Amino acid sequence: MSLTESHARFPTIGILGGGQLGRMTALAAMRMGMHVKTLSPSPAGPVASLGESVVGDWTDEAVMQSFLQGCDVVTVESEWAPAEVAERAGKGKIPVWPSSKTLLTIRHKGRQKDAVGTAGIPVGAYLACATLEDASAALTAFGGKAVAKKFEGSYDGYGNATVTSIEELQQAWKDLAAEDGLLMEAFVPFVRELAVMVARRPSGDTEVYPVVETEQKDHRCHAVMAPARISSATYEAARKAALAAAEAVDLVGMLGVEFFELEDGAILFNEMAPRPHNTGHYTIEACYASQFENHARSILDLPLGSSEMRMPAAVMINVLGHRAGSVRTDGYSDALHSSQASIHLYGKAEARPKRKMGHVTVTGDNLDLLRAEAEKAADAIHL
Ligand SMILES: Nc1ncnc2c1ncn2[C@@H]1O[C@H](COP(=O)(O)OP(=O)(O)OP(=O)(O)O)[C@@H](O)[C@H]1O
Ligand SMILES: [Mg+2]
Repeated sequence: MSLTESHARFPTIGILGGGQLGRMTALAAMRMGMHVKTLSPSPAGPVASLGESVVGDWTDEAVMQSFLQGCDVVTVESEWAPAEVAERAGKGKIPVWPSSKTLLTIRHKGRQKDAVGTAGIPVGAYLACATLEDASAALTAFGGKAVAKKFEGSYDGYGNATVTSIEELQQAWKDLAAEDGLLMEAFVPFVRELAVMVARRPSGDTEVYPVVETEQKDHRCHAVMAPARISSATYEAARKAALAAAEAVDLVGMLGVEFFELEDGAILFNEMAPRPHNTGHYTIEACYASQFENHARSILDLPLGSSEMRMPAAVMINVLGHRAGSVRTDGYSDALHSSQASIHLYGKAEARPKRKMGHVTVTGDNLDLLRAEAEKAADAIHL
C-alpha cells in the first residue's frame, strides 16, 4: 500500500491561521491519525513544522481554492480568519466550521450580546452607541462607570477602556469608535470571572466542560483554576448558559464563554469566542478529551470525547514575553526546571513584552498548592 493510499483513509483538517490555537489543534488531530494543513497570510512559527503549512493571501479565492485541495473540513483559528472566502471557494462541497454566519454574529460585540440576550441568557446592561452623545447618555444611565468597547477586532483587552468621566469617554471614543460607534457596558462589580468551554457537532451533540475561574492582569488572561470554587447553583447556571449560547449562534466546533459572577452567585454573560480558548488550555492535561481534540472531532462530526476532568484540580498560567526581539533559548533548561508542570511553548520566533509565548499547567488535588507551583514554573521561563 502506498503512503497516499494510507493517507486517504484519514480525514484532513484545513486550519485558517498559524498561531498557538492552530498548533495545539494540529497536535491533537495528528495524535488521532488525522492530517492537517494550515493557511496563514505570513510565515507562522507555531505551525511551521506541523503538517503542510501554506503561506498565502487568504482573501484571494484562487489561493483558497488551491489550499482546499485535499481538505475534508476547514476551520478557523480566530474569528477574524476569512471563513466566508473558504465557503465561496469550496462551493458548498467542503464544510467550514464555524460557519461564516456564526462568525458574523460573534465578531461584532453588539450583535453577539443581542443574540445571547434574545436566547434568554443573563447579560449586563449595554447599549450600542452610534454617537458620542449616545455614549455619554449611556455613561449617565450606567451610574457614571462603564466599559467602552470596540465593536470589532479587539482581543486581550486591546479595544476596551473603563470610563468614569466625560473626558475619559471622549478619549475612548477617539481610540475605539468605528463607523457604527462603540459598545457601552455598565461596569460589572464582579467577585469572580468564570469560563466554560462547549464542544458541539453539526448533528447537535455537545460536551460541556467544567466551569473554571479565570484571573486577568491588564485585561489579559493570567491564570485559570479548574474547577471553579463556586456554589453548585452557580456552576450549573454557567454550564447551562454556555450551552444555550452555543445553540443560540448555531456554533459547530469549540466555543469559549466568559461570565462574571456577582456577589449573590448570579452570573452575567461577558463574551464568547468561537474556537478553542485560552481558558481551556488546562483541558490538555486535566480532561479525558482536550478542547483541541474535541474541536477536531466536532468539526468532522465524529463522536466527542468526555469533557470530564481526570484529575481533581488543575491550574494554568500564561507565559508572556518579557522583551522584544528574537527568542533566545538560553533560558530553556530553567524553563524545564519544574518536574510537575507541563510546559507548553508555542514556537514563536519573535518575543514582545506581554505576547503570549506559552503556558504551563499543573494538575493535582489542591488548587492553592497547584497555583503556587504553576506560578513558579511560569516565572522560570524567560525565552
Ligand atoms: N462590563 C465590564 N465590567 C467590568 N469589567 C469588565 C467588563 N467588560 C470587561 N471587563 C474586564 O475586562 C476583561 C477583558 O474584557 P473582554 O473580555 O471584553 O475583552 P477582550 O479583549 O475582547 O477579550 P479577551 O481578553 O478575552 O481576548 C474582562 O475579562 C474583565 O476583566
Ligand atoms: Mg474576554
